[in-house]
Amino acid sequence: MTYQEVLENARKRMAPRCRVCPECNGIACKGVMPGPAGKGTSRTFQRNVAWLGEHVKLEMDVTGGNQERNMEISLFGETFAAPIFVAPIGLIPYTYTEDMTDRLYCDAVMLGAKAAGILAFGGGGPKAENFYEPLEAIRENGGWGIPTLKPWAVDVVKERLKEVEAVHPFAFAMDIDSAGLPHAGLANPPMLLKTEEELREIAAATDLPFIVKGIMTAEAAQKALRAGAYAIVVSNHGGRVMDYGLSTAEVLPEIRAAVGADTKIFVDGGVRTGEDVFKMLALGADAVLIGRPYVIAAYGGGAEGVQLYTEKLKAELKDAMTMTSCKSLQEITRDKIRLV
Ligand SMILES: Cc1cc2nc3c(=O)[nH]c(=O)nc-3n(C[C@H](O)[C@H](O)[C@H](O)COP(=O)(O)O)c2cc1C
Repeated sequence: MTYQEVLENARKRMAPRCRVCPECNGIACKGVMPGPAGKGTSRTFQRNVAWLGEHVKLEMDVTGGNQERNMEISLFGETFAAPIFVAPIGLIPYTYTEDMTDRLYCDAVMLGAKAAGILAFGGGGPKAENFYEPLEAIRENGGWGIPTLKPWAVDVVKERLKEVEAVHPFAFAMDIDSAGLPHAGLANPPMLLKTEEELREIAAATDLPFIVKGIMTAEAAQKALRAGAYAIVVSNHGGRVMDYGLSTAEVLPEIRAAVGADTKIFVDGGVRTGEDVFKMLALGADAVLIGRPYVIAAYGGGAEGVQLYTEKLKAELKDAMTMTSCKSLQEITRDKIRLV
């Protein structure tokens, strides 16, 4: 199978809500909810893609010599093939088509990611099974995955963390921005906003590294880190929780500046290509998460589609590193891009 065939296959299986556009940018699917759109006018989703695409440019420099390009990253005591994660995506049949269940989707991304040497997050949703299906897929994948918990009341989170620990994942995440989802009102147990103190209680309830997803300001980042987060994900949930927001790429540099060089920062929103991965690293991220394009890869080719898309991203990242004379991820610094 080729990646092109994955896309053609996905186009047949995902219609009508997702059209598998040449660039997944939130324009054709605007207003399609349930569906892959952003909230409201989809402007936040569109801004994620457009800002990264239009305002961040690579500085070509081919005078660095022919070297190996090392894109490996060490996290959680393990080495991964590239600084790329599959983002958590839940409610697949409700959002796209009933041609795929959440369990099949999770199996595809967990297996495909592992085959490509990277990690996938599990998604969630308003019902209990939306938590258990990804968790089961991670268990069957030998713990090679990161479950994402919804921001339930702290007591509920603590109960669920016991079940998470039994699966032995590398870490767990919480999308603290879920209260803004259009279907948040259906959630049982309810999804709530989290204070710094509540995040601290959650971090202290387990030895697993805690990844706080849904950070868009330096102040929120500092609260999460003071609370004991291992890493933050600069994310606006792919534009699905608030309309007219800023893009993740444009807030990333100020968040990096506020938290210092040693904090782990992941980012998502609008990352589509290896060049986009390069740009996010140059803007201050350690690694990226990618959402909708992995759904397309999984509908179009299952685990093989996920692996093929990841290999494509890796090849593009390597190419970008070659053309900017970066030997390792550490060399992808701010001076390798220009904001225009
Ligand atoms: C259909 C859909 C379902 C999602 N479900 C979840 C989820 O269950 N948990 C979560 O943390 N984020 C969820 N997200 C957000 C993604 O993890 C990620 O932040 C976002 O998709 C990144 O933007 P991108 O799709 O432009 O790459 C979802 C996004 C989409 C499009």
